[in-house]
Amino acid sequence: MASKSILTGIKPTGQVHIGNYAGMIRPTLDLMASNPDGENFLFVANYHALNSIGNAEEVRQFTHEIAACFLALGLDLSHTNFYRQSDVPEVFELTQVLSSVTPKGLMNRAHAYKAAVDANAEKPNAQPDDGVNMGLYTYPILMSADILLFDGGIVPVGKDQIQHVEFARDIAGYFNRRYDTEFFTLPEHSVQENLEAIVGLDGRKMSKSYGNTIPLFGDPKKRRKAINKIVTDSREPHEPKDPDTNTVYQLYAALAEPAEVAHLRARFEEGGMGYGDAKRILADKLDEMFEGPKARFEEYMADRGELEAMMAKASKGAKEKAAAKIEAMRGIVGT
Ligand code: TRP
Repeated sequence: MASKSILTGIKPTGQVHIGNYAGMIRPTLDLMASNPDGENFLFVANYHALNSIGNAEEVRQFTHEIAACFLALGLDLSHTNFYRQSDVPEVFELTQVLSSVTPKGLMNRAHAYKAAVDANAEKPNAQPDDGVNMGLYTYPILMSADILLFDGGIVPVGKDQIQHVEFARDIAGYFNRRYDTEFFTLPEHSVQENLEAIVGLDGRKMSKSYGNTIPLFGDPKKRRKAINKIVTDSREPHEPKDPDTNTVYQLYAALAEPAEVAHLRARFEEGGMGYGDAKRILADKLDEMFEGPKARFEEYMADRGELEAMMAKASKGAKEKAAAKIEAMRGIVGT
């Protein structure tokens, strides 16, 4: 049996933080590394970002940061097609064709759109669609095109994106039925089931909007300071402590190796370790994990010309495949 292709995208809407790393970047790199015989596709979804970011410099900066970040963390370009969405304009041609088989009612059911409409219902003078642009409304069609263009079989995503992968499956089905073909592969999502959202410095979910993130490649001294400010209870060093209600432990658990995590857990439960020690263990671990990648990240970011050249080279395979698929699609639809 041929191994399936794995495909996923990441939207460049902010500085990459360790929540993105633990939740999406590391699992995706691991999954792709475990599929060296299959075909892997990883891309920066820069057109998806335009629904929310209207500043060109920011879009460019975040796009470069994500690309540099994947490269610095060891993305293996020998078995992964790595590209920027905008470098494969066939995506947009496919989006138009998929729009013609997608019922409008399907888009009305999309979570992100419904959430915007529900939020407007709470406001006194708002119309249901206030603040909703067509990019947000048709987001699932663009995302379906991303996936179907390359016959992505397995799509690693966060829980909030499962519905979009289901829609891509539905839309592939509409096309295949209309044209009586099996032209598009029906994709399946893959979510890391046991992964809880990583906590931020204040113990809530780590999120840009809470301002509680730890940047992936931030200054180690600042990171240590921020860790030292994490609020803990007032237990004395000798007392046993509950790891599961402790932010320092939870961050460590999301990042360190299982044996290291088990060891720290035991030290919490036995007592004899103060919170200051636990914070130092966490800060040391982050230094150790990210020192090498941070240096490489900075090298890539310092030479944007070289980074662009690497991206251009990496995207060649995807561009060829996209062109061939669209050529065949035109035959099917008669354009
Ligand atoms: N919508 C995804 C997110 O917000 C990013 C994305 C765009 C994506 N296109 C995709 C993910 C295709 C998987 C496959 O995180």
